[in-house]
Amino acid sequence: MKKLMTIVAFAVLAFTFAMASATAEETAKVFKFYCSQCHGLEGKGDGPNVTKDFPVSPRNFTNAKEMDKLSDADLKNVIMDGGPAVSKSPMMPPWGKTLTDADVDGLVKHLRTLCKCKGKQG
Ligand code: HEC
Repeated sequence: MKKLMTIVAFAVLAFTFAMASATAEETAKVFKFYCSQCHGLEGKGDGPNVTKDFPVSPRNFTNAKEMDKLSDADLKNVIMDGGPAVSKSPMMPPWGKTLTDADVDGLVKHLRTLCKCKGKQG
């Protein structure tokens, strides 16, 4: 019986952990579904939505120089609340009501792997 309890406890723990942080695989799916049409599958800002008359270019996430100017908190902020929240274009939609906190944290990590940069600290 004790052994069973231990197994159950571990299962609950593992489940809680999985809920709290999105896996890289899940994040890749979220990115592909919600972001790639503008930012491109590889995050180069060249998604199929971006036509000639698109008023602003979606950020190229592989541009380390630009991405280094933003902290992780800045990235999270613009993803949650959209372009206008950070005085950028409304062409960048807010995702706070669509995605979970864990999804957004996962996306921030994903963007850091694309730019291969750490971003502004603090
Ligand atoms: C409808 C097109 C569109 C979609 C979909 C979209 N974006 Fe954007 N995004 C933009 C545009 C356009 C900008 C640039 C806004 C500007 O520079 O004024 C932008 C800017 C950003 C920035 C800010 C970069 C900076 O330099 O401040 C981040 C971060 C970002 N997008 C992340 C995401 C993520 C993550 C997703 C998916 C959840 C996503 N975007 C989906 C169009 C889009």
